[in-house]
Amino acid sequence: MGVQEIEAEEKRLVDPVAELPGFDETQSRIAITGHPIHAMSVSFPIALTFCTLAADMLYWWTGDPFWARGAMWTVGAAFLLGMFAGLSGTAELLLVRGIRVRAAAWTHFIIAVTLLSLLGTNWGLRLSGYESAVLPHGILMSMLCVLMVGFTGWHGGKLVFDYRLGIAKGR
Ligand code: HEM
Repeated sequence: MGVQEIEAEEKRLVDPVAELPGFDETQSRIAITGHPIHAMSVSFPIALTFCTLAADMLYWWTGDPFWARGAMWTVGAAFLLGMFAGLSGTAELLLVRGIRVRAAAWTHFIIAVTLLSLLGTNWGLRLSGYESAVLPHGILMSMLCVLMVGFTGWHGGKLVFDYRLGIAKGR
């Protein structure tokens, strides 16, 4: 097939998402005066996940139970605030047509739910003994949570900056 034939073939291809008006509607609905609640709330679980790994490392280094107790609180808060962020994200995903038709938004949902289950497990591990849980399982879980939160946050950023989901205007 020659270059011209390939170009003609490409012109005939239709992107159903790009073709249908209405699927450009990507602005946030779960928002306070236009400011998306999901974007506002994700900072808390992200920061608390990093704090948990830092507290585990400090416990390993110093042996001070203060850090193990602190890690139990930070990972619990990361899980609960992550659930809140997840609920606002899920409402956005289901309610906004231009968001729910894009596969990348569902990919973010799957990565985020995996992260939330890891955070919940990491918290649950510590509830029956916050000191004994840290080494080795707690700290290993915290490392995995940091990796996953980085991946989730990076992918969420892609939705906003590359696909322009959740912003005031569509494409
Ligand atoms: C569990 C279900 C989740 C769904 C369905 C979801 C969905 C979305 C959607 C649709 C966006 C685009 C912006 C918007 O419409 O507000 C977004 C952005 C984002 N998400 Fe999620 N999300 C979920 C959970 C999470 C979690 C748990 C985190 C991290 C802890 C996270 C981190 C982010 C980040 C960092 C952005 C970019 C925000 C910005 O820069 O403005 N998401 N998410």
